[in-house]
Amino acid sequence: MDDLREKYIALIAGAGDEAALEDLRVQAVGKKGEISLQMRELGKMTPEERQVAGPKLNALKDEINSALAAKKEALADAALDERLRGEWLDVTLPVRPVRQGSIHPISQVTEEVTAIFAELGFSVAEGPQVDSDWYNFDALNIPGHHPARAEMDTFYMHRATGDNRPPHVLRTHTSPVQIRTMEKTGAPIRIIAPGRVYRADYDQTHTPMFHQVEGLAIDKDISMANLKWVLEEFVKAYFEVDEVELRFRASHFPFTEPSAEVDIRCSWEGGQLKVGEGDDWLEILGSGMVHPKVLQNAGVDPNEWQGFAFGMGIDRIAMLKYGIPDLRAFFDSDLRWLRHYGFAALDTPNLHGGLSR
Ligand code: DAH
Repeated sequence: MDDLREKYIALIAGAGDEAALEDLRVQAVGKKGEISLQMRELGKMTPEERQVAGPKLNALKDEINSALAAKKEALADAALDERLRGEWLDVTLPVRPVRQGSIHPISQVTEEVTAIFAELGFSVAEGPQVDSDWYNFDALNIPGHHPARAEMDTFYMHRATGDNRPPHVLRTHTSPVQIRTMEKTGAPIRIIAPGRVYRADYDQTHTPMFHQVEGLAIDKDISMANLKWVLEEFVKAYFEVDEVELRFRASHFPFTEPSAEVDIRCSWEGGQLKVGEGDDWLEILGSGMVHPKVLQNAGVDPNEWQGFAFGMGIDRIAMLKYGIPDLRAFFDSDLRWLRHYGFAALDTPNLHGGLSR
C-alpha cells in the first residue's frame, strides 16, 4: 500500500494536463484500477486481516481522490493564469484616433437657415416630394399652357392605364408647401419650408435633385418692406457679416405680384466671395407678394389677408458660403469630399454660439 501511495502521489504531482490526470484516476481508483482491485481482495481475507486492511485501503483511496482533486484545481488555475497573461490589455493606453462621421453641408446650411428664421418667428413646414400637379402648378397660378410649366423640366410619375387620379410629379420647387400650409392652418402664417426638389437638369450648377427653402408670411398688413427687412436680416446672419446691401430687381413669377429677384452686393477677390462690399451683384432668391389667386386657391381670403413669399436654393447658398465649386460633388458620397467639407456632428448651429464654428 505504501508503494501504491508513493507511486500515485508522484504521478499525480507530475501530471501535465487534465487529460493525463483523468488517465491516472482511471488507473488508480477507476472500476478496474489498482486500488479498486486491492479492495476486492478484502473478501478473501480473514475478518481480522480485513479489519486492519479495510480502513487502510479506504484511507488510501480517499488520499488519492483528494490529491486528484487538488491537482485538477491547480491545473485549472494555471490555465486561467496563462490566459490572463496572454489576453492582457493595457486600458491606460491612449485611444487610437477614430474617424468620425460629419454633417453634410446641405444639412448644416439647412440647420443654419432654420436657426436664423426661428429667431425671426418662422416655424418649419413640410410637404410631400411626390405631389399632384394641382399643388405643384395650378394652385400656384401656373395653368397647363403656362411657359413656366415647360421651363421646370418636370419629372412626371408613371400612370397606370385607367388611373384617373390627377397627374403626379416630383415637386419642382418647395412652393406647393405654401398651398398645403395655408389649407391646413389658415392665416396668419409665418413658415419656412426646406426640402428636396427635382428637375431634369445636370451640369456644374444643376443636379436632378437639389434643395430649396420656401418662405411664407401671411397677415393683415404685411408688405414688401417686411420682406426686405426679413431678407436683410437673414443675409447678414447667414453670411455672418454686419452690413449687406440688397437689390430688388423687378421680375415675374406666376405666384407673386409684384415679383422681385434679390441680389446681394459682393466682390470676388482671387476667387474668394466677400458679401457686403464690392461692385458685383449675386442673385440669391426669388420673391414677391403672394398673388391673390394663390391665396384664394388655398382657401385664404385675399380681401382680408396678404403676405410675402420667397424661394431660395439651399445648395447654391451652401456653395457660396463654403466655397464649394461644383454642385454635383454634393451628391457623389466621396468620403474625402465629405471629410473636407463636412461639419462636426455636435456643433449645432445657433445664433448665440455662432452658426458655422
Ligand atoms: N418657386 C420658384 C422657383 O423654384 C422660386 C420662388 C420665386 C419662390 C418667388 C417663391 C417666390 O416663393 O415668391 O424657381
